[in-house]
Amino acid sequence: MRYGIIALGAFSAALLASTPAWVQQPPAITSTTVELPPGDGLFPGGSSADAINNNCLACHSADMVLNQPKLPKSAWDAEVRKMINVYKAPVDEVDVPKIVDYLAQYRGQ
Ligand code: HEC
Repeated sequence: MRYGIIALGAFSAALLASTPAWVQQPPAITSTTVELPPGDGLFPGGSSADAINNNCLACHSADMVLNQPKLPKSAWDAEVRKMINVYKAPVDEVDVPKIVDYLAQYRGQ
């Protein structure tokens, strides 16, 4: 019994003294700078872009919209409706035709 206790003590001391391989160094915390691509551009076209700039930049960039495939005007109308109805974009009803005209002009078929 006594040998058992001594052996257990020796085993515990060995465990405490050596750092087991599975104990890893904590990761070094360093600060990092991340350059995000510029995404704050407006829709081009001056005042003809006012309606789309005022209503369509809250959730995604102008580039994202302008990089979509060219679509017929009716599809752009449906797209704007989808933003309003599905994604709850707060678009003033008087701006809808101006936005659709803009999209048909810049990304129309
Ligand atoms: C309330 C947030 C919100 C607003 C405001 C908004 N959108 Fe979106 N839009 C979204 C979301 C969410 C998606 C889906 C993004 C995805 O799938 O990664 C999206 C996607 C799109 C797409 C890509 C095609 C698609 O259907 O997924 C187009 C084009 C688009 N929006 C145009 C517009 C236009 C034009 C307006 C202004 C009338 C507008 N959005 C305003 C939320 C919004």
